[in-house]
Amino acid sequence: MRIIGLLSGTSVDAIDAAMVQVRQHDDELALTIEAFASTPFEPALRQRIQALIDHGAGGVAAVCELNVELGVAFAAAARTLMQAHPGRPVDLIASHGQTVYHQVAAGRTRATLQLGAAAEIAERTGVATVSDLRSRDVAAGGQGAPLAPYLDALLFGAARHDRILLNIGGIANITYVPAGAPWSAIACDTGPGNALIDGAVMHISAGAEPFDRDGARAARGQIDEALLAEWLAEPYFAAAAPKSTGREHFGRAFLAPALTRGLADDDLLATLTALSARSIAAMIRRLTPAAEVIVSGGGAHNHTLCHGLRAALGAAYPLQPSRAFGLAEDAKEAVLFAVLGLAHMQRWPANVPRCTGAGHGVVLGSLTPGRDGAVPTVHPLPAPRRARLVNTEEATEHDA
Ligand SMILES: Nc1ncnc2c1ncn2[C@@H]1O[C@H](COP(=O)(O)OP(=O)(O)OP(=O)(O)O)[C@@H](O)[C@H]1O
Ligand SMILES: [Mg+2]
Repeated sequence: MRIIGLLSGTSVDAIDAAMVQVRQHDDELALTIEAFASTPFEPALRQRIQALIDHGAGGVAAVCELNVELGVAFAAAARTLMQAHPGRPVDLIASHGQTVYHQVAAGRTRATLQLGAAAEIAERTGVATVSDLRSRDVAAGGQGAPLAPYLDALLFGAARHDRILLNIGGIANITYVPAGAPWSAIACDTGPGNALIDGAVMHISAGAEPFDRDGARAARGQIDEALLAEWLAEPYFAAAAPKSTGREHFGRAFLAPALTRGLADDDLLATLTALSARSIAAMIRRLTPAAEVIVSGGGAHNHTLCHGLRAALGAAYPLQPSRAFGLAEDAKEAVLFAVLGLAHMQRWPANVPRCTGAGHGVVLGSLTPGRDGAVPTVHPLPAPRRARLVNTEEATEHDA
């Protein structure tokens, strides 16, 4: 089955789309990433989405309108990939959408909402679309996040040593895959990844720069250790896994007071970058005394952040980009959603309850049929126990 996985993350930078061919041989999934594209948001649309996330700008009308507009934008991203590969018919789209609200704290109504109407995607592409991949886990008592452990356990569980899969998006998340026991994985959001850095750069540059390219500004600045210690005392960092967070916590609300502390611009960026690096490293150290750390997400391109991570982790935690394993840093999450789409069609529970906190495993997502009610035909197969990445050339030989 050929599936397009779609998402826009907490950075609200772009819609990522991965075209993935999935084959199953016994208990192993073979994944071929046939194409990947990242379509940046129009600046005006990005601003409206961020204003909705940060302070509910536009109210219910904005939620409804952005739901449709994002559906249209997600459909366009999928169509771009389909049109670039006309010889590769797509059976299914699996869309995460854009999270605009994620509130799963105890004692409050637990809710998570991703916009990007599946009806628009299915109507405009003609392809059946799986969406709303988090709600069922929340209904089952989980946090609806993180979802990455399913793919992390499948792809990275075979090693003889512990592994940490680290994805540095707007928020950073880790999956700890213990040697020989991938389904005993532990995962959580560690806290900020790029979100605070991006927010500060945008503020400093009055919107001209969307992020600190390669961490260049932070590299020129000095870390304010006293302020960093104050930030690291924030209770979220001390909480045990499973835990998840979002821009509600590490977004505008966190950044606004930070901007009034009177730091020079580059020093502020150095300190925010160190906050991400040290909070990630501290959480990893709490989970295992030694592990291979495999990094993905846009933050993998921030050299200052990666340097800070290496320094904070030390020699027991060698850091490698996910590309070293055949998985481009920017494509990983889109590939995840393609696999979650397959899991939906196969009725495989794909939340890892230990990671989300759910009471039990559930089938994630809802299915919107494609043109003329089309849904892909699936031959039910038992849930896979592992997955591997097959490069395109190998896959072509296999087909021949
Ligand atoms: N060359 C680069 N140098 C520094 N930072 C970069 C670079 N390229 C990307 N980034 C950072 O990565 C971010 C985008 O990362 P990514 O798309 O993985 O995150 P995301 O959209 O928040 O996804 P998610 O929240 O699902 O993990 C950008 O906003 C930017 O901060
Ligand atoms: Mg992104």
